[in-house]
Amino acid sequence: MKVQGEPTRSIWVESDGWTVGVIDQTRLPHAFVKVKLSTAEEAGRAIRSMLVRGAPLIGATAAYGVCLAMREDASDPALETALTMLRATRPTAVNLHWALDGMRRVLTPLRPSERVAAAYRHAAALCDEDVAINRAIGEHALKLFQDAWDRKGRKGRLNVLTHCNAGWLATVDWGTALAPMYLAHDAGMPLHVWVDETRPRNQGAVLTAWELGQHGVPHTVIADNVGGHLMQHGDVDLCIVGTDRTTAHGDVANKIGTYLKALAAKDNGVPFYVALPSPTVDWTIQDGVRQIPIEQREGTELSDVTGRLPSGEVATVRITPPGSPAANYAFDVTPARLVTALITERGVCPASEEGLLSLFPERRPA
Ligand code: MRU
Repeated sequence: MKVQGEPTRSIWVESDGWTVGVIDQTRLPHAFVKVKLSTAEEAGRAIRSMLVRGAPLIGATAAYGVCLAMREDASDPALETALTMLRATRPTAVNLHWALDGMRRVLTPLRPSERVAAAYRHAAALCDEDVAINRAIGEHALKLFQDAWDRKGRKGRLNVLTHCNAGWLATVDWGTALAPMYLAHDAGMPLHVWVDETRPRNQGAVLTAWELGQHGVPHTVIADNVGGHLMQHGDVDLCIVGTDRTTAHGDVANKIGTYLKALAAKDNGVPFYVALPSPTVDWTIQDGVRQIPIEQREGTELSDVTGRLPSGEVATVRITPPGSPAANYAFDVTPARLVTALITERGVCPASEEGLLSLFPERRPA
């Protein structure tokens, strides 16, 4: 995607050929700041502190974290140490494990002297694969947008609701749930996006709104609890969200609050779609509510809010009374029964074991 007219990915290798560039997403929308990562520890810190975030980008950053580790020491023990450290950065997005398992598979059989170049090659391939997957998801989802637009008699605007940020900032490029928005807007569809603010870290208000604004896509930021009201009044034509981990039976973990949107969508007959790149499927588990680890983060993310003062200074202030504890659950699970369809790079399928296996037959147990 373009930032100030410049094609930009969310992660890249710098011109020195080895340091890794990322965008400091904690500074958006107030400042667009690029940061260089030069050690595996810095890559791990960037993931933990959510300087980078979003399931696919977490995986890509971890892959480059392994590259940086290999530059310092490409021995077997160093590889294992880096994999273990990076694996522990965030618990919910399965793309992290997908990326690290891929790095291990490629690097383990090699001699240490071959590992640095191979690691950078594999990390770059993984990033290119992410871009291709997201573009394909965008095209499949665009057909669903067009169907919804046809159902509406092509009158007024197509109102789409999304939660959190599943845009290009959350992936390497394009995004998953936001990819069809860019394609629809570019194709001239009169699209309008309801952007859930996504408390407590406000990925919707801060990142999705910024992304859509950069691309000129009409959008409106709403408080997290507004979606149900809009659906009751016929103001949402479809919902589309990303996912951090989807089980083999189609249960979807995504940013906290996604489940409540899916319940409201079901109650109001609004289609609820999940944009699902295949590296986000956890084929080893079935029951999302019981088996997906849900991250809990610092309570200060809830008790403190950051914003820009009239002076231009960015400041953080506390909004809860001193002494009130805060519980900060970062994700929830939407059961497959509430999901209208999964949109993958191979096409659209029901959120079920059979649905997923129809698109990924190689995953069918022998
Ligand atoms: O805590 P975050 O910002 O990493 O959570 C991100 C999300 O929940 C996204 O919706 C998800 O990773 C899908 S991104 C294509």
